[in-house]
Amino acid sequence: MKNLKIVEHPLVQHKLTKMRKKDTSTNHFRQLLREISLLLAYEITRNLNMSEVNIETPLEEFKAPTLDGKKLALISILRAGNGLLDGVLDLIPSARVGFVGLYRDEKTLKPVQYYFKVPAGLDERVVITLDPMLATGNSASAAIDLLKNAGAKTIRFLCLLAAPEGVETLSAAHPDVPIVTAALDRQLNDIGYIMPGLGDAGDRMFGTK
Ligand code: URA
Repeated sequence: MKNLKIVEHPLVQHKLTKMRKKDTSTNHFRQLLREISLLLAYEITRNLNMSEVNIETPLEEFKAPTLDGKKLALISILRAGNGLLDGVLDLIPSARVGFVGLYRDEKTLKPVQYYFKVPAGLDERVVITLDPMLATGNSASAAIDLLKNAGAKTIRFLCLLAAPEGVETLSAAHPDVPIVTAALDRQLNDIGYIMPGLGDAGDRMFGTK
C-alpha cells in the first residue's frame, strides 16, 4: 500500500483510542476529532511547495521560506467530512473550502451526486479531500472523479480510519492520490462498517443516533 501513510504519532493514537470507545460522548468525540484532524493535517501538508520571500527582521534583511502557489482547497465529503474540516481549518485558516454531497443508490449501490460546490482555480491548488472513514472507497473514488472533472490535478485524501478494501479501491481508481490516515483497521463487515472501527462517524459527531 505505497499510497498510504499511517500517522503513528502517540497523540494521534491516544486520541483515536478515546474516539473508538463506545461510551465517549458526542461532545468529546467532536472535540477529539477536531484535535486529531489538526495533527493529521500537519502530516498531509508536510511536503507542500515552498519559495523564498525577502523580509526584514528587526535586525536585517533575510530571504525567508514561505508557502508557494495558490491557497489550498479543502473538500469535505458530506456529511462526515465536516467533522475533519474544523480542525484542518484551525491549522490552515486561509484555505478555500468546497463540499461534495453523495448518496448511495439503493438499487445500483453506486454513489450519486446531490451537491457539488468547489473553489475556483482547482487546477492550480493542492486539493485535500476530507472524509473520516475510508470504508468501501466508492464514495471517495467518486468524489475524486468529480474533482478531477472540475480540473483538480494535485489531490490528497485525508481520513481518520481506513479499511484495506477502501485503500485498494481508491488506490486502484486514483493511484496518484496519497492517503493519510490515523489507522488501517482489519476489514469491513458485511454492511460496510470498518472493524474494529468506531461506528458511524456522522452519527457519533452529530449525535444523530
Ligand atoms: N462510515 C462510517 O461512518 N463508519 C464506518 O465504519 C464505515 C463508513
